[in-house]
Amino acid sequence: MQISIEKRPLEQAPADAVIVPVFEGRKEDRFGAGDLFDSGEVSGKALELTLLHHVPGLAASRILLAGAGKAEKFDPAGMRGLAGAAVRRLKSASVKKIAMWLPPEHAAAEFAAAAVEGAILGDFDPDRYKTADDKKPVASFAISGSAAGLEVAAERGRIVAEAQNFTRALVNEPANRLTPRGVAQAARAMAAEYGLPCEVLERAQLEQLGMGALLGVAQGSAEPPVLIVIRYAPAEVGPKAHLGLVGKGVTFDSGGISIKPSEGMEKMKYDMAGGAAMIGAMRALAQLKPAIPVTAFIPCVENMPGGRAQRPGDIVTAMSGKTVEVINTDAEGRLILADALVYARRQGCTHLVDAATLTGAIVVALGHLNVGLFASDEGLQGRVLGAAKSAGERLWPMPLDDDYKDYLKSAFADLANVGGRWGGAVTAAMFLKEFAEGTPWAHLDIAGTAWLDEAKPFLAKGPTGVPVRTLVRLATDWKDSTA
Ligand code: BES
Ligand code: ZN
Ligand code: ZN
Repeated sequence: MQISIEKRPLEQAPADAVIVPVFEGRKEDRFGAGDLFDSGEVSGKALELTLLHHVPGLAASRILLAGAGKAEKFDPAGMRGLAGAAVRRLKSASVKKIAMWLPPEHAAAEFAAAAVEGAILGDFDPDRYKTADDKKPVASFAISGSAAGLEVAAERGRIVAEAQNFTRALVNEPANRLTPRGVAQAARAMAAEYGLPCEVLERAQLEQLGMGALLGVAQGSAEPPVLIVIRYAPAEVGPKAHLGLVGKGVTFDSGGISIKPSEGMEKMKYDMAGGAAMIGAMRALAQLKPAIPVTAFIPCVENMPGGRAQRPGDIVTAMSGKTVEVINTDAEGRLILADALVYARRQGCTHLVDAATLTGAIVVALGHLNVGLFASDEGLQGRVLGAAKSAGERLWPMPLDDDYKDYLKSAFADLANVGGRWGGAVTAAMFLKEFAEGTPWAHLDIAGTAWLDEAKPFLAKGPTGVPVRTLVRLATDWKDSTA
């Protein structure tokens, strides 16, 4: 989708359709909308969409009156949703060229960036394998406004949203078409395109490094495991911190020998959403060039119950030297992340953030609305929450008291990989904390938020691309002083 700023008056915008936000309790008199307000057909309620054709005085042949709710409550998140819903509506009518008017009181950079993000995110559909695809992508989206700084804001919005869609496209791939080596291939291609160094560690190297926890999970699959490393370094020496992004890359989670019920198992292709988010975030950071060095680590495996699969009761030795009793082979994400976290620390990362579709328990706790945030360090927790707020993604802090560690006791090894019936999202996070050790670390459990079961007006069903925007913002906003 081509993104631009349209400085001419909206009436002259050379588009097939123009989107005009209208507010609740504020009658829009232009474009013949006044009568519709008077009759109650248009109210300005949030996400109410009214498409009109051939409105006199407009170069565009269509106008979409887009309900924005109460003007005083309208924020960038509202703008993102509104632009997304409007673009999806126009896309379903095969509209190719779109312009969106920025109301003068909402013409700030943040609103422009959010509108561009919403448009690009709304344009994504997960149906690429339908052979009779009738949904053609939108060709262009212009922000109609004359405020200063719109170009920079729109460009930032474009970079971030395209990265998020890149992540969604990866997550959307079924496990037969995207194996661990396939993820590595996609990461390499992205890194080459944006000039980032990328290494892919293969089984022999993982064995040499002593990554017994990761290798144990990979054992049951015919697909070999990989650990993908993508690096970004700023041109000039800036903050002393080095951010490590670690993402769970399980291309399919059958549960292994502790096999999952077949109902809904097809969704477990999205168990690499954390890893895909890290690759997407690096794609955006390569273009936005934050002051801080950032390295992404994506352990990729397929969790299968093959003849060589690990068994409940097996004891593996992680890279840190800690031994783990594998009580449940379906708690595999924490095992691969354990080794990746240790490796990230050895590579010099001073701050770690991981994202993982880690537990069903986080879905029980927070539903599908909030990412669960667990952090060992208040400063880092504050940064992550601040970044999420600016980026318009919802995260909710969860507890990590030391006492939870008792839940992970094993009679035979240093740790068990599961913690019993209660507090499953917390005990999973506690397990990871054992491997982050003293390094400031934050864990994002995205099991409930990385996949939408039902389409929203502004977002298709399927992969959401959470938490790409938060991660990008975390890196670009980083300053040492507040560390
Ligand atoms: N990938 C799953 C978690 C998950 C569940 C993601 C639902 C998305 C939606 C993870 O590997 C898993 O199976 N976790 C188990 C842990 C249990 C065995 C302690 C779970 O949550 O049931
Ligand atoms: Zn699992
Ligand atoms: Zn899993």
